[in-house]
Amino acid sequence: MNEQLKKHLKILQELGYEYIYTEREMKNSIEEKIKELEKINKEIQECKKCDLYQSRTQAVLGEGNPEAKLMFIGEAPGGDEDKQGRPFVGRAGKLLTRLIEATGHKREEFYITNICKCRPPNNRTPTPWEMEACFPYLERQLKIINPKVLCLLGATAARAFLGRQVAITKERGSVINWNGKLLYLTYHPAYVLRNPNTEITLFEDIKKAIELAYTD
Ligand code: URA
Ligand code: SF4
Repeated sequence: MNEQLKKHLKILQELGYEYIYTEREMKNSIEEKIKELEKINKEIQECKKCDLYQSRTQAVLGEGNPEAKLMFIGEAPGGDEDKQGRPFVGRAGKLLTRLIEATGHKREEFYITNICKCRPPNNRTPTPWEMEACFPYLERQLKIINPKVLCLLGATAARAFLGRQVAITKERGSVINWNGKLLYLTYHPAYVLRNPNTEITLFEDIKKAIELAYTD
């Protein structure tokens, strides 16, 4: 081994590093994550654990960076999502994407998904039971991706995590510890579409959630 490199490694060892990943190992671990996520995708396409399977064209797993530090979590797919098989691509999704990009970041940097993977009939709110039935898939996604911050979009997503009713206008902006992760509560972009004066708040919240995810 090159003497200079040996010296560097010795310094790192003294600093407490026990292991250094090679580029190939990093690539393998990302490929492994993509494979594990694809396995969940296969399962949800066949899933009949709750009645929502009856109203879906296809289940929507989620998309984005398998190593994301921040995950955005909505309620359930709507019509556009159900058709395209992608999360947050309709009107609310376009607003979410625009606000993320207005912070100077890219949508692809993060992971975007929902509590329920199937579209409810007439886009009604999923029931607590439907959210509970679907939650294990999200837990598996969290284990694979291991984000630091979960930005919960709207009262329904917050309720699924906290197990209680959430008054989002009162509780938005709060940061809650949850199994070693940080929940950041904010408005659902569909709510912002109906209440345009809240757009600036959602934007500020997204900025804060990103900051929280990227600072140690
Ligand atoms: N609303 C949601 O909650 N999720 C989507 O994916 C789209 C709209
Ligand atoms: Fe299964 Fe979730 Fe779809 Fe219900 S919403 S059928 S639990 S994948």
